[in-house]
Amino acid sequence: MLNSSRAGLARLSLLSEELETLQRYGTRFVTGALPDNWLERIMTGTSEIMEQTDNKETMPENDTLDAILAEVTGCEKCSLATTRTKTVFGVGSPSAKLMFIGEAPGADEDKTGEPFVGRAGKLLTDMILAMGLSRDRVYIANILKCRPPDNRNPLPGEVELCEPYLKRQIRIIRPAVICTLGAVSAQTLLKTNVAISKLRGKFHSYEGTPLLPTYHPAYLLRNPSAKKATWEDLKMVMDKLGISIPGK
Ligand code: URA
Repeated sequence: MLNSSRAGLARLSLLSEELETLQRYGTRFVTGALPDNWLERIMTGTSEIMEQTDNKETMPENDTLDAILAEVTGCEKCSLATTRTKTVFGVGSPSAKLMFIGEAPGADEDKTGEPFVGRAGKLLTDMILAMGLSRDRVYIANILKCRPPDNRNPLPGEVELCEPYLKRQIRIIRPAVICTLGAVSAQTLLKTNVAISKLRGKFHSYEGTPLLPTYHPAYLLRNPSAKKATWEDLKMVMDKLGISIPGK
């Protein structure tokens, strides 16, 4: 197939997921951001879509957070563009040593454009404060920049199209440590299906940066007994960053 690319394949896979969603739920989640004849294209051929979406994987030279922000704000790569209120880019220090990465915006984040501001966000803020840090000294972002309708899990095609933005953010910020929150962000960045309960508690490597997966604050709200293990994870992060640990 001519001009094939990972981005083209991702677009194609997203289209077929949306077809499946359409068959399952009706038109609610499938919307106008797609090309007019998208269904026909899925059925009859792919090369045109692949040419249109070619080559999004390469990193622009002299990339900046502002440039990525502008792209994210106008992004229409997937149908979440038509259901979102605001894109949720990321907040914090552009020179943060620690980056937290969650899954996707929820309802509160979609309204405000800021990650982790709902109930789970308040818990994350408390976790950051307990580490002796603050939200403006770390950087907080998500795998997806737009809210999936009804807080459903991100579709693999959405992740594939959105992840390059995050990858660029990470390359610019160059944190000393990444802490992923929940299964989706850990599995996406580490390219694995291993359960979060198995991934957490130890450092992995993301493009050479130490990455420690821990539980998602929303999970902790439902399962407070997991807070102890999460605090152990956060202490490992503090240790790696040279932050003094209370009582040690
Ligand atoms: N959950 C996430 O994963 N990210 C947010 O920004 C909010 C809730």
